[in-house]
Amino acid sequence: MSPTYEKTSTSPVNIAVIKYWGKRDTALILPTNSSLSVTLSQEHLRSKTTIRASPDFEKTRLWLNGVEETDLTKNKRLQNCLRETRRLREEHEKKLCKEIGTENVVPLSKYNVHICSENNFPTAAGLASSASGFACLVYTLAQLYELPVSTTELSKIARQGSGSACRSLFGGFVAWEMGSQVDGSDSQAIQIAPKDYWPELEALICVVSDAKKGTSSTEGMQNTFTTSPLLQHRIKHVVPERMKSMTEAILKRDFQQFAEITMRDSNQFHAVCLDTFPPIFYLNDVSRAIIRVITEYNTCSESGKLKAAYTFDAGPNAVIYTLRENVPEIINIIAKFFPGDVENGKEYFTDPYQLFSGSIIG
Ligand code: ADP
Ligand code: DP6
Ligand code: CO
Repeated sequence: MSPTYEKTSTSPVNIAVIKYWGKRDTALILPTNSSLSVTLSQEHLRSKTTIRASPDFEKTRLWLNGVEETDLTKNKRLQNCLRETRRLREEHEKKLCKEIGTENVVPLSKYNVHICSENNFPTAAGLASSASGFACLVYTLAQLYELPVSTTELSKIARQGSGSACRSLFGGFVAWEMGSQVDGSDSQAIQIAPKDYWPELEALICVVSDAKKGTSSTEGMQNTFTTSPLLQHRIKHVVPERMKSMTEAILKRDFQQFAEITMRDSNQFHAVCLDTFPPIFYLNDVSRAIIRVITEYNTCSESGKLKAAYTFDAGPNAVIYTLRENVPEIINIIAKFFPGDVENGKEYFTDPYQLFSGSIIG
């Protein structure tokens, strides 16, 4: 038996406040607009990945949530991440061979790997599992291969697994700069502010449904790109300005500006989904009820100020950004409006992750 090399790591999800939706290059995953997100703490939502490498492994294998994916050649995104990290490992090995001698270098780049990953929250339900999942894959490979590269470099590899994954390599407030190069060399994530820059900001997660979405993000955004005139307006005339205002709002810790742009951008993202032909519906009746409750809560606030901001990714599940002082009040309001559908035996938000959880950004 040859030795086995193994690394395990975990990665957080990130929830965009300026949404990525549309690719100018589907193979390299280059977006049609820049985007900006907040990385959540790993307390409630995280991916955990273990990767082993051994000369005895006859092929590379992947288990996701305990189920093996049979034909990995079809998983182009996984192949992209493996190819790019292996290439960097090869370069690293060459350098090491010169420095310490070939006999002292383990040729990990030549070994097959076994990847085992699990998410502790619903996969493919609009809670950014592809973001934490691919960030974790690339980060764990980089650890295993001991790659001497920056997080921004790694973000370009994670991007080729799932676009939103590039942002999950950083904590805090993160921008994905769309870049302009055709090879994607400047399409990368950068941290705008660290997690403790705005400690009062909290994210409440509400799992309305843990079912797998009918239209994956990849398929949905491609259909939007080819059919929606509203998307063209959004990428040219709306997002560039919003990226600037949102960055400014974060740097000023201005919740009013942050909340308004967050809600407007979520609304416009779901509007471009509706403008897709045929239309895509990610929100359901409960999602829309949450929008109404938050709107009402903001309208009735004594100070006349926005106290909460909803945002929805490609799924019905809500994320509510608010300041810490408002968390108990919002949890009470949600519990009051969504006490459970007793007649149909369905209760909302009963499991640990279905409960609105005060998840501090991390
Ligand atoms: P989500 O809204 O959850 O991000 P997507 O449609 O964008 O949904 O992506 C879901 C897909 O991402 C899954 O079907 C799977 O292929 C991939 N994925 C999710 N979690 C992981 C993981 N931990 N490791 C590898 N791939 C993952
Ligand atoms: C609505 O990153 O999941 O969550 O790049 O095809 O894997 P692929 O798509 P993905 O899309 C995320 C879309 C979004 C908005 C966002 O996270 O910015
Ligand atoms: Co996704």
